[in-house]
Amino acid sequence: MRKKIVAGNWKMHKNANQTEELLNELITKIPAKTNAQVIVAPTFVNLATAANKLKNTPIGVSAQNVHQAEGGAFTGEISADMLKSVGVDTVILGHSERRSIFNETDALIANKVDTALKHEMTVIFCFGEELKDRQSDNHFNIVENQLRDGLFHISKESWSNVVLAYEPVWAIGTGETASPEQAQEMHEFIRETIRKAFGNDIADEVSILYGGSVKPENAKEIFSKPDVDGGLIGGAALKADDFLAIVTAI
Ligand code: G3H
Repeated sequence: MRKKIVAGNWKMHKNANQTEELLNELITKIPAKTNAQVIVAPTFVNLATAANKLKNTPIGVSAQNVHQAEGGAFTGEISADMLKSVGVDTVILGHSERRSIFNETDALIANKVDTALKHEMTVIFCFGEELKDRQSDNHFNIVENQLRDGLFHISKESWSNVVLAYEPVWAIGTGETASPEQAQEMHEFIRETIRKAFGNDIADEVSILYGGSVKPENAKEIFSKPDVDGGLIGGAALKADDFLAIVTAI
């Protein structure tokens, strides 16, 4: 059985006090047993607090980025070792905001993937087409290329530390969600692409999350699709009740 996962990407939201408040609320509200593994990704400065607070809870903690180098003169950056040293063993890589705003290329993301995997971190690998790609019917090509260029160099053994997050860029923070059918169609394509390259075991085991304006109102229908194994949630992860509703919709 594939793992179901609901991860909340807090992006650049919540200062220290607000982080503590939301974590406290989540700790109280998220049931000990849920159908999905629950993960939250606060900002770097609040990760150590989050990792400490969540230590004996069912909620996992993820970083939103990592630098590809082991360390050195990289002002403003954070290494995998630093993340691990504060108890963070999951990282979101390849998010569309990193790709478009911070110019992260597939090659750079591939390097970051290698570094994270070398440190035995779990990688939540994000990818997805822009609106123009879908309008020009190029979305399957784009998605396949992002997967191949960012991820397909890894070994078969590494796949147990990889979670995929398909996030059509046109649906991120826009209120516009892919329909459950569009999500299923793409998730099935992704799984079949992995099947061709890495075989049945890996294709059937890898969790593929959907991200892009998932809310309490649409989560159940999206999660009901056979190849959708959970969600990567942005805006709706910032309110405990909304996030809880999404977690329990699976
Ligand atoms: O990482 C999360 C995604 O970018 C989705 O964000 O739920 O605010 O659309 P959103």
